Amino acid sequence: MTTTQAPFVAPALDYRARALKSVAFGVSSTPRGRQLPAPVVVDRAEGAHVWDISGSRFVDYALGYGPLILGHTPAPVLARVRAELDRGLRTATVHKGEAELGELIADTLPSAELSAFVSSGSEAIQLALRIARASTGRTKVVKFRGNYHGWFDNIQVAGTPGNDGADAIGQDPGAAASVVPMDWGDLAALEAELTTDFAAVILEPVAVNGGCFMPPEGFLQGVRDLTRKLGIVLIFDEVITGYRLDLGGAQRLAGVTPDLTVIGKAMGAGFPISAVAGTQAAMEPVSSGRLLHRGTFNGNPVSVGAACACIAHLRDNATTIYPGMDTQAADLAAHIRATADAADLPLSVARTGSALQIFMGLRELTGLSDLPRIDRDATMAFTGDLLVNGVQAISRGLMYLSAAHTDDDIAVTKDAFTRAIAGAAARLD
Ligand SMILES: Cc1ncc(COP(=O)(O)O)c(C=O)c1O
Repeated sequence: MTTTQAPFVAPALDYRARALKSVAFGVSSTPRGRQLPAPVVVDRAEGAHVWDISGSRFVDYALGYGPLILGHTPAPVLARVRAELDRGLRTATVHKGEAELGELIADTLPSAELSAFVSSGSEAIQLALRIARASTGRTKVVKFRGNYHGWFDNIQVAGTPGNDGADAIGQDPGAAASVVPMDWGDLAALEAELTTDFAAVILEPVAVNGGCFMPPEGFLQGVRDLTRKLGIVLIFDEVITGYRLDLGGAQRLAGVTPDLTVIGKAMGAGFPISAVAGTQAAMEPVSSGRLLHRGTFNGNPVSVGAACACIAHLRDNATTIYPGMDTQAADLAAHIRATADAADLPLSVARTGSALQIFMGLRELTGLSDLPRIDRDATMAFTGDLLVNGVQAISRGLMYLSAAHTDDDIAVTKDAFTRAIAGAAARLD
């Protein structure tokens, strides 16, 4: 990589050396510390851009790992947040924003009648699993390989190819004893496995985490039919896809309605909030008060206000925002494909709506089963090349678009890809 000459690298490495002395791994979430050639130290941000401490500007496709669907400075969200702050913090109180948000979710997400709020996607997954076990009186859960449902011991398993166990060191190996990993998309295998012992089947309806894969034809409907027949709670993890792929999430696009949906990321426009939503019947353990739904920061007025403003804005502008992001993403994907092919570079690009995944090592992936054959190190190095050329992606090759990206940003990004692809191809020669 020719990257170390970039002007932002030396100040970023200086800061990293300082942070490593007082902050574990120098960052607040481990993947952020792995960015090449150095983790960008963001000083300020506006729209689709971030500026680092050296004054370098990047077109941002990391977008806070997904939440910033309206960009870094969404006027309606920031106005609402300022208004909420002016009325006092009111943390852990009952306030009118809660019902407003519940109503907005019920109006936009097909499966939602009732919502319960927490602060992160990982927490909401825990709540959904607990609701499923409480309502069925059963414990076993099907989880699909390659899907990610947060970092807690009882569900962070089978995330990486070839490993059906815990994904991180330090996990309690017994915590996920009731989780059965299966292949995402394999309906026949699921049918053979499922019995009335299972409390839940949890899945990403579109496998954005694995590499932006759409579900095989009929898979989601098949899972819906099987789970309904056996009285198993179907949980869609729409932490990424909710409010990103469509106002009604992946479930509206697929026309398949789960019992429980977990949403997060984009719903809060960058503020920490997540929710479990479902029908009156599915949410009964919480709505009856039988199941303790707890958390000091649940439903805090600032995050709730941000989510209300974000969802209302997305609802009012859905006919322009979603097609606009999708068109830009498709345009970018086409440029990446054509440029990589012209350079004979083994680079894949997959797109689901406004999310793009690039991987080095293979020209095309047919599904999650191809993941062992991608080159993760080369992918990280390639996102480093993009960074040096003024474009920030998530280091593992995932990119999100926002309503704030302009056609000029896309043009700048295409140029950056052209240069990064030429550099990567030259290294292979
Ligand atoms: C599909 C999915 N579910 C759950 C989570 C966990 O959310 P959080 O990071 O907010 O805890 C993530 C995070 O990336 C995710 O992608």
